[in-house]
Amino acid sequence: MRVGLLTGGGDCPGLNAVIRAVVRKGERHYGDELVGFLDGWKGVLERRTMPLDVERCRGLLPRGGTILGTTRTNPYKLDGGSQKVLDNLRAEGIDGLIAIGGDDTLGVAEKLAREGLVVVGVPKTIDNDLSATEVTFGFDTAVQIASDAIDRLHTTAESHDRVMVVEVMGRHAGWIATQAGIAGGAAEILIPEEPFDIDAVCARLKGRHDRGRYASLVVVAEGAAPVEGTMETQSGELDAFGHVRLGGIANRVAREIEERTGFETRVTILGHIQRGGTPTAFDRILATRFGVAAIDAVHDGAAGQMVALQAGQIVRVPLGDAVGKSKTVDPDLYHGVAEVFFG
Ligand code: F6P
Repeated sequence: MRVGLLTGGGDCPGLNAVIRAVVRKGERHYGDELVGFLDGWKGVLERRTMPLDVERCRGLLPRGGTILGTTRTNPYKLDGGSQKVLDNLRAEGIDGLIAIGGDDTLGVAEKLAREGLVVVGVPKTIDNDLSATEVTFGFDTAVQIASDAIDRLHTTAESHDRVMVVEVMGRHAGWIATQAGIAGGAAEILIPEEPFDIDAVCARLKGRHDRGRYASLVVVAEGAAPVEGTMETQSGELDAFGHVRLGGIANRVAREIEERTGFETRVTILGHIQRGGTPTAFDRILATRFGVAAIDAVHDGAAGQMVALQAGQIVRVPLGDAVGKSKTVDPDLYHGVAEVFFG
């Protein structure tokens, strides 16, 4: 078979590990010819490709980013885009396609499968907000980076008796904030799923101070928002793909904390540090398992399916079950565990 691969959306550690696994099993086990499309769906629209073989994939396992490049281009948002994708894949002689991405990329894959293309999805996002899989690769690495940062901030916060507000990624879901916050011993965790009450947050921080210690770590997901009408926020500008560019809620929260409590407060926005560099061992293994399962799925003709992790096993689920609805933080984890340590 001639099998195509692409990576779309925001990059994340482990993408190269998936590519390596697909190529290894495809070439050595099935005798496939593998071809990478550059920059996500954009490369399919423009017929920009890269031949992939085992030799080309040497050294890729621990390398962050994606050798194929990535964009957020969505052919369904361009005039005649989806037809062009189908025509170009036919012209390239592609028998099956593996799309590695998050909600947007896999949403395109799902629609193309309905038009008869053998396309299989691999779930990726550091945000871990994709449905139908318990976890996406890249998330564990992001949590590790964020909790390492929180550990470092603790010691400087203690030395200066300060409040440290740390902003982590998480547009629709606060998985990184919740897990890194638990791992790092945060005094407050603000996530998109739970609009926060700044009065209550400040009261709890004051309570810590009254008990004699107020070096506090407040972890804020970039998509967190206050209860309506309780605090002013700025609405973000849009990027080229119509997504609101987030970032900055930590500055607003820090200003409120300082004004309302009088505690000296500093802000750290982790940003793309969370997406760069080498994947953790967990992410390398998950990415490798997904890659092997994806090429198997192509050979089984599993059009419109996504490989997923459920109860520790790699399974196939319809792409339609994964896209269009965010997997939000488990309330038991947030209220039942994280919240126990607030204040
Ligand atoms: O891929 C998901 C994500 O990392 C979000 O957490 C974040 O809001 C967004 O991507 C940032 O996108 P960009 O890299 O385009 O600024």
